[in-house]
Amino acid sequence: MRKIHVIGIGAGDPDQLTLQAVKALRSTDVFFILDKGEVKSDLVRLRRDILDAHLPDRAYRLVEARDPERDRAAGGAGYSPAVGDWRSARADIYERLIAEELGEDQSGAFLVWGDPALYDSTLGILEEILDRGAVAFDYDVVPGISSVSALVARHRTGLNRVARPVQITTGRRLAEGFPEGVDDVVVMLDAHQIFQKYADQDIDIYWGAYIGTPDEILASGPLAETAPRIAELRAEARERKGWIMDTYLLRRRPRG
Ligand SMILES: C[S@@+](CC[C@H](N)C(=O)[O-])C[C@H]1O[C@@H](n2cnc3c(N)ncnc32)[C@H](O)[C@@H]1O
Repeated sequence: MRKIHVIGIGAGDPDQLTLQAVKALRSTDVFFILDKGEVKSDLVRLRRDILDAHLPDRAYRLVEARDPERDRAAGGAGYSPAVGDWRSARADIYERLIAEELGEDQSGAFLVWGDPALYDSTLGILEEILDRGAVAFDYDVVPGISSVSALVARHRTGLNRVARPVQITTGRRLAEGFPEGVDDVVVMLDAHQIFQKYADQDIDIYWGAYIGTPDEILASGPLAETAPRIAELRAEARERKGWIMDTYLLRRRPRG
């Protein structure tokens, strides 16, 4: 039976690979690397660097494929169908890779950014392929250090306050309103700096871009005064690198 490892590789620092991840790398015959286009080629390079660092004898095969483009213009009601189409297009590619590039008794691996359990579609895609029934395989999941863990570690703070909940959400959701019943909110996938919408409230922000990489940028403080600085840092970084990847924690100060 074909075997697939879904390996969390951490959010940017190759030292964030766990020992379990290294063991999984060493038991893999074929690595599948999905290229998301030129702007993200840094991320592909990092995956290659990880393989070079941990498998110096190169006794593996690397298969690269181009990730399908997602219709990012689709908003509102069109958002979910656009994501569904994109996921199915990815499932077609993954299915072909597994069926054609992996021998019956071989093991393959997908190297997933951060933790495969957080805002990543690999597990859903593998389940979709199994449901289709055209190719059979077994798979396991190796957890990774997420950008959320990396963010709070770099700011030397916790995710939650004592006995309080924390919510992880997206920029798209935050744009609809600050989540009810929580005062600590982690925001990912925010291309539009939605935090600015809450700059008139008593909230602190802990922000990080390219966390764990040589380009890492951190900023923190009261939202009112930190939001404009983050906007500048973001604009400069985007200009320089052509793309940005950032995450932040919004922490509402105790009332009264
Ligand atoms: C598709 S999600 C993948 C999350 C990933 N599975 C994880 O565990 O971190 C991509 C989002 O993760 C966040 N992200 C990932 N790596 C990051 C990094 N090194 N620095 C800052 N944010 C990062 C950003 O919010 C980005 O928009």
